[in-house]
Amino acid sequence: MPRTSGLFRTERLSAGACQTDRTISMRSVSRIDEAREWRARLSGSVGFVPTMGFLHEGHLSLVRRARKENEAVAASIFVNPTQFGPSEDFARYPRDPERDTRLLSEAGCDLLFAPEVEQMYPEGHETFVEMGATAAPLEGARRPGHFRGVATVVLKLFNVIRPTRAYFGRKDAQQLAVIRRMIRDLHHPAVIVACPTVREADGLAMSSRNTYLSPEERRAATVLHRALSAARDRWTNGERDAAELRRVMRETLDSEPLARIDYVSVADPDTMRETDVAASGALISLAVKIGDTHLIDNERME
Ligand code: PAJ
Repeated sequence: MPRTSGLFRTERLSAGACQTDRTISMRSVSRIDEAREWRARLSGSVGFVPTMGFLHEGHLSLVRRARKENEAVAASIFVNPTQFGPSEDFARYPRDPERDTRLLSEAGCDLLFAPEVEQMYPEGHETFVEMGATAAPLEGARRPGHFRGVATVVLKLFNVIRPTRAYFGRKDAQQLAVIRRMIRDLHHPAVIVACPTVREADGLAMSSRNTYLSPEERRAATVLHRALSAARDRWTNGERDAAELRRVMRETLDSEPLARIDYVSVADPDTMRETDVAASGALISLAVKIGDTHLIDNERME
């Protein structure tokens, strides 16, 4: 069911107890025609942050960056069913629309587009973006069809919002490479802006899925960042043999009994092809299962 037939506004108050004339409002819409109408009135630059909601500082850092670099800012919240496998967590993916709306408004977002599944995939929908080699390894191998769903929904959202710039986190490095590849291949005019990974104090990359972790699993999850740091230290000390960097990551991950390795990788960040030599710019990445939770992280060697 659509959440609202019309538009509603959320007040954004400046810091402090009282409402001031700095009060700005965010528009929140659930229908494609409403989002198009918002876009049609704008002539300046539009920054866009696509998300699946349950927002954290990682998402909000993208919104703030978009705010600095564009005249208008849109974000979307849509838990996209086509990027989840049949045994994945689509149904239980965490959701908190009220909190998300407040956080986006406070971060300076002008438009929240939060469609229902029926808006994005109405009866009869059958067109998908087929991805190639960039989407095949790593997350693509572990999650068949995942990047097909991601690329399709991102292109659909881009066709509604028509962003000048779109902001993506480096945390999902392969997703970033896939989107960049799609934008180039399909001659889409949006500029893709890559933003740094935001981490918890102990190094764990922020993720909506971190909420699945029990306290014991949450402690174990720090092993991802420790494994990357161990490989990075080797690289900083001159190690360029990719096999050795993979070995170091495995060794660290193996030291954590709750972590089961899905993959460790040293790859080209644009093509996601594995490399023998970790030259400057190489992407080291890993995926681990802790309990039932799939966690990923990566670092660029530079
Ligand atoms: P979601 O996981 O909600 O992430 C939305 C955006 O936030 C992505 O660009 C992601 O890389 C970025 N992000 C997540 N955690 C981050 C962190 N710790 N630091 C910096 N950025 C972070 O990625 C998706 O949704 C979906 O696949 C989507 C692109 C919306 C398509 O459905």
